Order: sequence, then structure tokens, then C-alpha cells
Amino acid sequence: MTPTWVQLAYLACAVCFILALKGLAGPRTARSGNLLGAAAAVVACVIPFLYLELDHVPLILVAIAVGTAIGAVGARRVQMTQMPQMVALFNGVGGGAAALVALLELEHMVGVTDTLGVDPYNWFVYAATAFTIVVGAVSFAGSAVTFAKLQDLMSSRPVVFRGLPVAFAAALLAAVVWSVLTVTSAALWIGVVLAVLGLAIGVLLVLPVGGADVPIVISLLNAFTGLTVAAGGYVLGNTVLLVAGTLVGAAGTFLTLLMARAMGRSVANILFGALKGGSTLGAGEASDRPVRSAGPEDVAILLGYAAKVIIVPGYGLAVAQAQHTLRELVEVLGARGTAVDYAIHPVAGRMPGHMNVLLAEAQVPYEQLKEMDDINGEFKQTDVVLVVGANDVVNPAAKTTPAAPIYGMPILDADEARQIVFLKRSMRPGFAGIENELLFDPKTTLLFGDAKDSLGKLLAAVKAL
Ligand code: TAP
Repeated sequence: MTPTWVQLAYLACAVCFILALKGLAGPRTARSGNLLGAAAAVVACVIPFLYLELDHVPLILVAIAVGTAIGAVGARRVQMTQMPQMVALFNGVGGGAAALVALLELEHMVGVTDTLGVDPYNWFVYAATAFTIVVGAVSFAGSAVTFAKLQDLMSSRPVVFRGLPVAFAAALLAAVVWSVLTVTSAALWIGVVLAVLGLAIGVLLVLPVGGADVPIVISLLNAFTGLTVAAGGYVLGNTVLLVAGTLVGAAGTFLTLLMARAMGRSVANILFGALKGGSTLGAGEASDRPVRSAGPEDVAILLGYAAKVIIVPGYGLAVAQAQHTLRELVEVLGARGTAVDYAIHPVAGRMPGHMNVLLAEAQVPYEQLKEMDDINGEFKQTDVVLVVGANDVVNPAAKTTPAAPIYGMPILDADEARQIVFLKRSMRPGFAGIENELLFDPKTTLLFGDAKDSLGKLLAAVKAL
């Protein structure tokens, strides 16, 4: 029986997790929400040491120390653009750990009888254990493949081979059969085979996903890990694991659906599009049609004498790490009396909230960041839109070309402004791999070069006006 004080402490941790999620929903409160969640997680980890008689305490403490050191160093060193693979790694080890714990629990459960000689565990406990093993293994293996794809340890393109759909379906079917076997005749070896099947499903699920779709799959696997941990919490009779896992499962599911919707695609298309030969994202060639390009001095004149400017940041801003220079430019323009806002598309960049985090890091005031729905009506009255390392999020093909992979994705209406300036290095397309007609619009000017370099030159030129 869990002591009352432990139950109350777990309840307090669960409330903190919920408040943490609420805090993470807005840029102002994200930092405190994150700290609150982390503090509650630390408390939840300490509690078992205070009321349980644990075996192997020194070993557990060494494992915690090693994990903490790796996590802390990794999180400090990681570049912003490498964040998705970092999340994948942490998420994967979470799922893997839950699967290992469930395997150990299964070993403990096997052969246990109560005073009447009856197995004290009902079928539901075995079912939850089987679920934790298989889904935890899927999450571990899937996350490992996403990590390898994003870290360039393997090709980031969809990997499809003959027989992949059949192998995937067979592995799924076998996992269902083996899960039933785990419930009806539990044994450690059956659990181990189930885990191996889970690993195979995880690999086969993620192999056909193209590199740029991987962040969405990471979010899906995150949801899987959450559900695994929740089921593990049920098996162990640990409420805080159950609540935390459910929260992660729900949050990951919502995030996956919201990202897919913001990209105008279904989760099924993201996961299985390549199997039908339908996912060509990222495969586009550079166009050689003529465009109007200009130097930094010309663009500085456009910006310096504009009354209203909207900045559209995108993936290239993160790649160039040009956020600080951009903020300086906006400050100089503001000092000249120009009204400047940032238009934030929900899937600009390569991870949820990518632009918000990037610009917050450069101390851009939150009031200047405007969500797509709030700012779209303002483009008509805007003198210049400065598109910095963005492409798909302003591509009118999303509205006009039914065959385009981004068709149906809501976009920023940059095409309605009086002048549009793109900062990019070449005529290569963005993530969707398709040409952007806006680059050829008579209102559009291109300033070619790395965004950090171009913004530095622009800043100097605007200051010199
Ligand atoms: P993209 O459409 O990918 O365009 C990025 C642009 O940045 C490219 O045109 C590229 O052109 C330019 N660029 C790259 N490095 C640069 C540098 N160092 N300096 C200057 N320009 C640079 O980006 P977006 O508009 O942000 O759209 C995001 C895309 O990613 C969407 O299609 C979205 O669906 C997808 N996606 C988003 C997410 C999330 S959650 N955000 C997740 C998965 C996929 P050059 O190569 O010519 O420089």
C-alpha cells in the first residue's frame, strides 16, 4: 500500500506537470513552465528512495549520475537546428527504458501465486505489460532511425524496398499474436520476442519517411513513449508515471495532428506517402528562369523608406544563425520610425515553435511576433515583406496548384504586399521541393547570399542611409 504522503506528493507533481504544459503554451511563461515540470520530475524521481526499500541503490545512483551528465552536456552543446534529433534521442531512451522495466516486471510476475495458489495479476496487467514492451521498443527503434536520419548517419531520403509493406504488415500481425501470447502464457522469452518485433516495427515504420518529415514522426513517437510510460505506470502501480505518461501521450498526439494540419497533409501521407510513390518532398531542382536581384544597398533603400515592414523568418534563418543580426536590423528600422513585425507561420523551420525559440534567443520582444491568422490581413497595407530564409510558407502554390505537395497548407499572404524581398542563397526550392512562383513576381527582389552575411550588409547599408 502506497503511503498517503507519497500519494499526495505524486498528486502535487501531477498538478505541476499540467501547469508546466500550460506554461509551455506561451512564450512568456514557457521558461517557468519548463522549470516547474523539471522540478516536479526531480521530486517524483526522489520519492521512491524515501519510502521504498530499493535494491542496488549505489548502482541506481551511478546510472542517474551518468544519465544526468550525458543529458546536461548534450543539451548545452546541441545547436538549435539539431534540437529535433536531440528530442528523438531522449524520447527513444524513454521508450526503451519503459520497455526494459516492463520486461523485468514480466519476469517478476511469472510464476507468482497468492496464498490460494492463484496468479494475483489479472489479464489486464499482462496486457498493459505487453503494450509497454512492444510500443516502448517501437519508440526506441523508431527514434534511433530518426536520429540517424537527422544526424546524417544514414540517408535522410525515404528508404523504400520491395516487400517493405509486406514485412511491416507481417511484423505488426506477429506483434499482435505475440501480445496475446504474453497475456495468455506469460514468460520472459515471449516478452523478449515481443520486444524484438517492436524494434522491427519501429525501424520499418520510420525508414520510408523522408528527412524533412521526420520531426512529425518524432512527435508521433513521443506520443507512443507517453502511452508506453502510462501503461508502465499502471503495471507498477505508480500514479505519477501514469499521469505523466498520459500527458505526454496526449500532448504528442495533439502536436502531431496540429503539425500535419498546418502542413495541409494527413499523418498517413507523412508516414506512408513514399510507399505509394507520392512523397517527393525535398527532391526539387533549382530553377534557371530569370528573376530580379539586387544588392544590399538597393534593398536598404526599400526598407529604410518603408512605413510598414513585415519580416517572414524561415528555416534558412536558423541555418544561418542570423537571428541576432536580424533583430539589430529591425531595431535600427524601428528607430527610423518604421513599423516592423515578424509573421510566424506554424510550421516555419523544422520543428514546432522553431521561429519563436530562435527569435526569443535573440531577445526579440514577444509583441513583435504575430501568428499567421493575426497578421495575414496586414500584408495588403505593407510596403515591404522581408522573407529571410523562408520559402514554402509564402508559396502561393499552396492556394493555386492542386498537384503541389503543399496544396491546402495555409500560407502567409506575402504576395499581397507592395514589395517582396527574399534573402536566400540560390534558386533552390525549400523543403517541399517545388518552385515558388512568388520569386518570379514583378514585385519581388532577391538578395542572394547567406542570410547572416546579407543581413549584416543590409544593416550597415540601412545605418548609412
Ligand atoms: P523552406 O521552405 O524549407 O525554405 C528554406 C529556405 O531557406 C530555402 O529557400 C533556402 O534557399 C533558404 N536557406 C537555407 N539556408 C540558408 C542560408 N544559410 N541563408 C539564406 N537562406 C537559406 O523553409 P520554410 O519556409 O521555413 O518552410 C518550412 C517547411 O518545412 C515547410 O514546408 C514545412 O511544412 C516543413 N516542415 C516544418 C516542420 C515544422 S514543425 N516546422 C516540420 C517538418 C517539415 P537556398 O537553399 O537557396 O538558400
